[in-house]
Amino acid sequence: MRQDLVLIKLGGSVVTHKERAMTLNKRAIDRIIKSLLNVKIPIILIHGGGSFGHYWSIKYGMHSKPERYSSEGIAVVHESMISLNQFIIKTMLKLKMNPYPIPPYSLILGKKPFSKKIFELAHMTEDKIVPVTYGDIVYRTRHKYSILSGDELMTLISTVLRPKKVIFAINVDGIYEDPQTKNVIHTIDEKSLIKFSDVKLDITGGMKRKVREASKISLAGIDVHFVNGFKPERLLKIIENRETEGTVIKGKRSSIGNAR
Ligand code: IPE
Repeated sequence: MRQDLVLIKLGGSVVTHKERAMTLNKRAIDRIIKSLLNVKIPIILIHGGGSFGHYWSIKYGMHSKPERYSSEGIAVVHESMISLNQFIIKTMLKLKMNPYPIPPYSLILGKKPFSKKIFELAHMTEDKIVPVTYGDIVYRTRHKYSILSGDELMTLISTVLRPKKVIFAINVDGIYEDPQTKNVIHTIDEKSLIKFSDVKLDITGGMKRKVREASKISLAGIDVHFVNGFKPERLLKIIENRETEGTVIKGKRSSIGNAR
């Protein structure tokens, strides 16, 4: 059964100015959060790190592989994410959206999603609370920590909760067929997804990671949308099942419980 929920990730390049260290994109945060006031179904929000978490994680040489990292680095990266999160939470509070920040550390157990806790996020939305979590540096096993990205959290939460809508708000119009022409692919199905592992689709860095996580979600039978976070009206259209610019990676049809 698909839950009456929308899971949205606000990319770090939407909520921050990625090229300038520790700089919020206040205008983008304000616009996208305000637009969420129009959403009629319960929301769970995730945000990325942009020029907050990413900036420091690069400085301290941290990545997604669990390793021994500098304790100072762990504290600094985490604090930077808390301060970005605080700004988003305060913006939501002013709009009476009842946000509740959830440290991502509480949603995993070692390598696995902590399903019991993830289910509780859905329960919280029944009380008109909007759970908000974020990419962060997290404890994995004794002495080992790793970056748990907002993109990975999208997969962890989607596979447990099976939300009706799963949306990545990014800083471009969708996934490009070709980065030169910037032609946006509207629909990616199982067959074309295979091509993503080819060199043909020259997707690099952050986008590659997003597509990787999105394809995992699609394998669970869930459609995954990519939309321009600077154009919040498009995000609303996706939630209302209306046509708009963006990319959808279609959920694998053979999966059980694929009712939309
Ligand atoms: C980043 O999360 C977390 C840290 C580096 C601490 P994401 O990887 O989801 O962030 P963006 O959206 O790509 O900036």
